Amino acid sequence: MLKSFPLLSVVALLAVAPFVLEAPAAQESAKAQAKAAAQTQDKAKALYKRDCELCHNANGDGKTDLAKSLGASMADWTQPKTLANMSDQVLFDIIRKGKGTMPAEDAGRAKDDEVHALIQYIRSLATSAPATPDTPATPDTPAAPATAPGSGK
Ligand code: HEC
Repeated sequence: MLKSFPLLSVVALLAVAPFVLEAPAAQESAKAQAKAAAQTQDKAKALYKRDCELCHNANGDGKTDLAKSLGASMADWTQPKTLANMSDQVLFDIIRKGKGTMPAEDAGRAKDDEVHALIQYIRSLATSAPATPDTPATPDTPAAPATAPGSGK
């Protein structure tokens, strides 16, 4: 009776083997997909850092010395409504052709799919950006107290 135990366990192992082997395979492809998505995002982030950050700032608020020195009025992408009503196509064209003082990002610097990834990246700045000092986390708290009556000048 005891002797048949190892054989039984081998049979049992063979029976579950397909399931055991299948699960990691599925996990691998999900992992590969997640990895590819993460790589695209990393690439977009690196591109942004290389070609955009100097004007648009790391958090996308556009408050940079370069933009100031160009006299450019920059939109603040940390505000969700800034890019909300601009379609991907509109953003794509601006990035490809440039606008005003903004230089065009030509195909040699970023392929079409990289520009699309960049667009996703700059859209993501609206939700993930930390609050900047001049945008209080609680909007109903006034940034500066109103001058109290009778406090002089
Ligand atoms: C030399 C500074 C400069 C650089 C570098 C730059 N931009 Fe801009 N960008 C601007 C200015 C200025 C505007 C506003 C143009 C206008 O409305 O006249 C602008 C506008 C935009 C807009 C339109 C929406 C908005 O905020 O007005 C997008 C999208 C944009 N830039 C994306 C990018 C991306 C992506 C990169 C990097 C590939 C980049 N920019 C690099 C200066 C720059």
